[in-house]
Amino acid sequence: MKIVHVVGARPNFMKLAPVFGALRDRANVTQTLVHTGQHYDVKMSDVFFQQLGIPLPDVNLAVGSGSHAKQTSEIMVRFEAVILERKPELVLVYGDVNSTVAAALVCAKLGVRVGHVEAGLRSFDRTMPEEINRLVTDQLADLLFTPSEDGDENLRREGVAADKIFRVGNVMIDSLVRLLPEARKISQDGIPARYALVTLHRPANVDDGGTLKGLLESLLEVNRDLAVVFPAHPRTRQRIAEFGLNANQLRILDPLPYVDFLALQARSTVVITDSGGIQEETTYLGVPCLTMRENTERPITVSQGTNVLVGRDAKKLQAELSKVLSGHAKKGTVPLLWDGHAGDRIADILVG
Ligand code: UD1
Repeated sequence: MKIVHVVGARPNFMKLAPVFGALRDRANVTQTLVHTGQHYDVKMSDVFFQQLGIPLPDVNLAVGSGSHAKQTSEIMVRFEAVILERKPELVLVYGDVNSTVAAALVCAKLGVRVGHVEAGLRSFDRTMPEEINRLVTDQLADLLFTPSEDGDENLRREGVAADKIFRVGNVMIDSLVRLLPEARKISQDGIPARYALVTLHRPANVDDGGTLKGLLESLLEVNRDLAVVFPAHPRTRQRIAEFGLNANQLRILDPLPYVDFLALQARSTVVITDSGGIQEETTYLGVPCLTMRENTERPITVSQGTNVLVGRDAKKLQAELSKVLSGHAKKGTVPLLWDGHAGDRIADILVG
């Protein structure tokens, strides 16, 4: 079977690695890797390929940054040419970024089968660009690989035929399980013994000066009780500089490679984030997670895991932080099929 994988942005790479790895071991499979170039900085892309053991992309579409329409349409035009030339039998797309929806749309128009890895997640908030990407991709996909039961339910409710839906578990957790032993060996010189690990990059949180100022003030307050360690996304760094905001007392770092970030997560007292994937990783690790969003497309991390939604409410953040610091953090369990074998299950479904 000729399979093309499409990735483009940082959160795609740890989802691709286990699926690519599982298919590499199967007979009669030819894999082509397409990187759209949505993320292009070494620290947002190349270093992940190295650490996750993913081969260099066969094709790089080099689209770079731009408005949603520009980025999505550039990917579509350039990816169409790749599909016409390579004629795959199946294209696998990952997660919910612009590269995901763009590739799915190209395939649907050309009549090429699409599999969506991490299907069915819904925040029910259409102001999030990712929610639009999820809804459209899942309507177009032929095979939908879900991480949890809520994903299956969302898809059935939206009219997706039951025989297209496959609950395989969480591919992102496959990468975590594989690389956690390596992460535990990393020394953390210069990092305090107890700390809050922070990430923040959602447009809704960082693109408005007033909102970002408020969030940074909350973090400065956290920093009085617990050192804040903050590897910042390039978007966030740019906004802090552009709005002239004060974040001097926070330990702001460059974006970190996968294993280094995992090491920080595993040892942190608490994680404060607006990321999607980090809500899942902390649930697996049993580390308390305070999510600076009003909603989540990963509700199982709240119902079963260690995640608490604090939104942009500074008081709620402080109240939840106090619980953590007084030893009363939320305890959780690891959801079913978040076991390190989701990639193998996808390979079984595709080629047996
Ligand atoms: C994208 C995804 C988001 C994901 C995030 C993880 C979409 C709609 N959003 O958001 O779901 O959580 O990736 O990182 O696909 N930039 C750089 N270097 C890079 C990439 C980006 O400096 O390698 C800067 C540019 O200024 C760019 C900005 O970050 O304009 C935003 O990048 P973009 O790819 O549009 O979206 P992300 O915010 O990264």
